[in-house]
This record gives sequence, C-alpha cells and structure tokens, in this order.
Amino acid sequence: DKEYTFAIIKPDAVEAGHADAIFAKLAEAGFRVAAQNEMTLSREQAEAFYGEHKDKPFFENLVTFMTSGPIKVLVLSAPDAIKAWRELIGPTNTEIARADKPESLRALFGTDQTANALHGSDSSSSAMREINFFFDGWAYDNMPAET
Ligand code: CMP
Repeated sequence: DKEYTFAIIKPDAVEAGHADAIFAKLAEAGFRVAAQNEMTLSREQAEAFYGEHKDKPFFENLVTFMTSGPIKVLVLSAPDAIKAWRELIGPTNTEIARADKPESLRALFGTDQTANALHGSDSSSSAMREINFFFDGWAYDNMPAET
C-alpha cells in the first residue's frame, strides 16, 4: 500500500549540486515527491529535530553540519516507502555504503559518517513526527498508518 516517509537532502549534497541527480534517482526508484521545501536550519531547529541524539558523541558535529547550508526537506510516497527509502539510501556511514552498497544514494552522493547526503525516517512514528516538524498541518489523512 501507498505509504509516506520523510527525507532530507543534507547540506553536503545540496552544496555539491547533487539535488537534481538525487531527484532523478528517487523518481526512477518509484518515489513521488508529495511535498518539498528548501531551507537552512537554525541551531535550535537542528537540536530539536535530532533531540534523540543529544547525548551522543557526534551530536555537536551533527548540528554544526546540518546548519552549515541549505537543505531540501521532502515528503516521499511509494509502496512501503519507509523501508524502501532506507534501503535506497543505504548505510549511515558513507564509507561503508561505498564498500557494501555501491549503488545506494549515500554511496553515490555522501561524504563521510556525518555528512551522508540523505536522511530517511526509521519508522512510521518517526515519519509522522518528522513530516509534522517540517510541514506544519500536513493532512492527517495522508499520513502513514501506525505499525
Ligand atoms: P541520520 O541517520 O539521517 O540521522 C542521524 C545522523 O547522525 C546520521 O544520519 C549521521 O548524519 C549522523 N551520525 C550517525 N552516526 C554517526 C557517527 N557514529 N558519527 C558521526 N555522525 C553520525
């Protein structure tokens, strides 16, 4: 069934000019862009969005990176979108993606462990939280069913 997920084209990929190639790849893989916006995150927004990571050693680097330039925030739809998008983007660490999943979008467009080109929601509840974080009032009848 059709499902929605949330994606970010991160500052490294936008800065490198990879956005159009990423849009082409995701369309080819069967994803439709249901909503999109370009923005630069404030420190407050980045800290709130990544709140679950605030005690991790990489948190400061993550927030600095994510506020370093424009990002594109996307709502994507596809059958089984949450899982399918995470498969398409590949492992978090770009080096591991290049070694193990060379066709994945992080392998193709990422930089390193923190600057990894793309984000994807990890669950239905994350997708709902993240879509609402960036697309205030996004229609609930479009939202993924709880799993
Ligand atoms: P993402 O999975 O989209 O959301 C959390 C982000 O934190 C992740 O992408 C990376 O950008 C970053 N990250 C995760 N693990 C590490 C790590 N071990 N070292 C540095 N950055 C990380």
